[in-house]
Amino acid sequence: MQRLLKPLLCLALLGALHGTRVAAAELQLELPAGTRTWTSAALLAHPLAEDIRIPADVAYQRAMHYRAVPLAALLEGVAAGDHLQAVALDGFAAELAAAPLLARQGARAWLAVEDPAQPWPALAKGKPSAGPFYLVWQHPEAAQIGPEQWPFQVARIRLLEPLAQRFPALLPAADASTEVQAGFAQFQKNCLACHRLNGAGDSQFGPDLNIPHNPTEYLGAGFLAQYIRNPQSLRRWPQGRMPGFSQSVISDSQLEQLIGYLRHMAGRKAEL
Ligand code: HEC
Repeated sequence: MQRLLKPLLCLALLGALHGTRVAAAELQLELPAGTRTWTSAALLAHPLAEDIRIPADVAYQRAMHYRAVPLAALLEGVAAGDHLQAVALDGFAAELAAAPLLARQGARAWLAVEDPAQPWPALAKGKPSAGPFYLVWQHPEAAQIGPEQWPFQVARIRLLEPLAQRFPALLPAADASTEVQAGFAQFQKNCLACHRLNGAGDSQFGPDLNIPHNPTEYLGAGFLAQYIRNPQSLRRWPQGRMPGFSQSVISDSQLEQLIGYLRHMAGRKAEL
């Protein structure tokens, strides 16, 4: 849902990819055991593949049916403490803790596989579908799975070092309060897929949130909270691409923690 408008940026490119990939979609898994490539045909024929129903699909915003494989079955050698990244065709990178992906109870992660013979609907008029591969969840509420954890148009899932190790410039001070640490967790979960901070992160979709200036330096706290809830309520223009975050995704107290983390990081700017 969050990125529905993003392909506008590179419509031509995606259009080209979409045209070819329905015939020959491949998912690359870079895991402890090595790199393995799955074709959609092999995944559709996977012994654990099932027809599943997703009542409140994030990308399509309605109930959907998919042919899907339990993601845990594909994550050979991955441990609960590991960190994974799902990379989409357009470069969007979702950071994913392995534990909820491996869980077999409560929230359950499935890799939905688009059948080239029966393509999924377009995400919007003139746009490609959520395929070829899309991470969907059953009972997402059981593990507080947010919309950024439903990456679609996935091309690659890879094991990476935890974020804190890859990007120490994102870390709060070692003696920061638990509130600031909790805000850092919210930042990773909700913001890092699109924003860098201190130049650190894998996405460049939105502006860096600390350099040259941190939004807490130029937006009064009330306005920053308002912006995160509904960007267009502060600055309106047709091409705004940042989604709003409702209370069901980030509660009021989590939003306070998130802003606390940003404020804290204003005092920890990376030297450029
Ligand atoms: C799907 C991508 C995406 C996500 C997720 C996202 N943003 Fe953004 N954000 C953007 C883009 C793109 C812009 C630039 C304005 C626009 O196009 O909407 C932006 C702009 C901003 C700005 C305004 C900067 C300015 O001065 O104009 C702030 C502040 C901000 N984001 C904070 C956040 C925070 C905090 C989160 C996490 C809760 C977040 N964003 C999540 C894409 C995203």
